[in-house]
Amino acid sequence: MKKPIKIFSLGVALIALMASCDKNRNHPGYSYFPDMENSQAYETYAESPVWEDGKTNQLPPEGTVPREMIPFDFEKTDVNRTWAGQELENPYHGEAEIVERGKELYGIYCINCHGDNGDGKGFLYTSGKYPYPPATLLSDKIKDNPDGEIFHVITVGFGMMGSHAAQVIPDDRWKIISYIRQELHQ
Ligand code: HEC
Repeated sequence: MKKPIKIFSLGVALIALMASCDKNRNHPGYSYFPDMENSQAYETYAESPVWEDGKTNQLPPEGTVPREMIPFDFEKTDVNRTWAGQELENPYHGEAEIVERGKELYGIYCINCHGDNGDGKGFLYTSGKYPYPPATLLSDKIKDNPDGEIFHVITVGFGMMGSHAAQVIPDDRWKIISYIRQELHQ
């Protein structure tokens, strides 16, 4: 190759290289053969030509479990409560900050029925608004219950008490139980 041609092609290459830079940071610049760089995005609730039912937002496949969720297969029966007590284990062991958080959560979700000290005389009951006496959490039964049984009660409910699964995430249930054990059962 002759010298001027070499210099010329080097110049063209340099210009091409510089042209791909851009002072405007909001502009991605030019790319050579973008291939799959830019994917076709659909809004969550927009129509989609890709799926048969025309919806972009598809249901997750059957059996999908959200991250960090532990599936809970126990039903609201005494036998299942006993099983839960045998199978489930509290990941906490009375750590101070866990008990502290458990106390806050108890104050939000349980105190209105079960009372400050767990004797079942919460305001909802003493005010006459809740007709059925909430169980005491200070009984020998509850003291002897494994943590998993209390987890079961919070999750699926017990007798007149409804399930609190929708309000209290599993991790927080263990914290409430830690509080009941460390503070109310002492
Ligand atoms: C709306 C009132 C109410 C709330 C809120 C409530 N409970 Fe209960 N709970 C009850 C009632 C009533 C019973 C007794 C049910 C029965 O005997 O039919 C009960 C029973 C229980 C039992 C079983 C007692 C036994 O003898 O087996 C436990 C454990 C318990 N509750 C824990 C909790 C915890 C922990 C919370 C907070 C996450 C909570 N409850 C929130 C009303 C409530």
